[in-house]
Amino acid sequence: MSTSDETIILGIETSCDETSASVVKGGVDILSNVVSSQIESHKRFGGVVPEIASRHHVEQVTYIIEQALAEAKVTIDDLDAIAVTEGPGLVGALLVGVNAAKGLAFAKNLPLIGVHHIAGHIYANHLIEELTFPLLSLVVSGGHTELVYMKEHGCYEVIGETRDDAVGEAYDKVARTLGLPYPGGPHMDRLAHEGQATIDLPRAWLESDSYDFSFSGLKSAVINTMHNAKQRGEELAVENVAASFQESVIDVLVTKTLRAAKERNVDRLVLAGGVAANKGLRERLKQVCKENELTLTIPPLSLCTDNAAMIAAAGTMMFNKGKLADDRLNGQPGLELERQ
Ligand code: KG4
Ligand code: ZN
Repeated sequence: MSTSDETIILGIETSCDETSASVVKGGVDILSNVVSSQIESHKRFGGVVPEIASRHHVEQVTYIIEQALAEAKVTIDDLDAIAVTEGPGLVGALLVGVNAAKGLAFAKNLPLIGVHHIAGHIYANHLIEELTFPLLSLVVSGGHTELVYMKEHGCYEVIGETRDDAVGEAYDKVARTLGLPYPGGPHMDRLAHEGQATIDLPRAWLESDSYDFSFSGLKSAVINTMHNAKQRGEELAVENVAASFQESVIDVLVTKTLRAAKERNVDRLVLAGGVAANKGLRERLKQVCKENELTLTIPPLSLCTDNAAMIAAAGTMMFNKGKLADDRLNGQPGLELERQ
């Protein structure tokens, strides 16, 4: 998207296992978005090892920032502000980005903005299509599953959240049981399209008026089903297990989102977070939004998983509202979205 807003913001993201820096103009125009993934280093442990993540961020962050500025063809002197993920995330990982941002902001006397990681995921959509309000965002990532109602820019009301495992976490854990590499979400998604949902798995609807989610029961059901089949000497086709699991997840996510949109009288939906890369979820949401005349935005795959362009986009909105941080900015592993 292009813009008449000339604000140039550097975004920095180090909350988990991606070191990323990006330069965004006017909150919508991506001049660069450099992402360095650590997945190869964490794969052999089957998940993200916090200490290893912090060390990689320390090694990478300066180079990634330099690369982002170079690709955007700007210098630090061209920047209007620096936005960085403040939380939630791994504390050691967050601290690397926050301190890099603080150091640069202090040295160059630039305004500093602390961004909530989930606000960033939601604003990835603003890079594609201008956000209009009220809207409902389905946030699905490795650490979060939330339904967020927004009546205006920068105003978040969490109307539902997971009571146990986040959806991405459930994907990764089930994938691990199936012997798939970390992170298992994309592998499960691929397999699900090769199989049939032949196994009857539960859907956790919770109380009839609740928008909360729960995925740990589903995860246990898959593990038990596999275990029981093994004891009977049967071999379940992994494609069918993946398809059945994905069907249950999508059914609950899409049904609750649609109900919330109707009850809240919202006709604009946005999908956010790493699991927004899921092909099955994207297809189903597109289909129900069409049937129900709802406008839907889904970021392209590169903006679904962690990246700094989304942080710069949310940061620009905060900059324009005057929501600046000071030198007390710190990594906050448990930062709440509604307090952003
Ligand atoms: O948002 P994200 O990059 O990091 C967090 O903030 O957590 O999300 C990562 C999560 C992982 O659990 C990964 O398995 C999942 O997103 N994921 C997927 C797909 N692509 C990534 N899950 C299901 N289907 C996919 N295609
Ligand atoms: Zn994320």
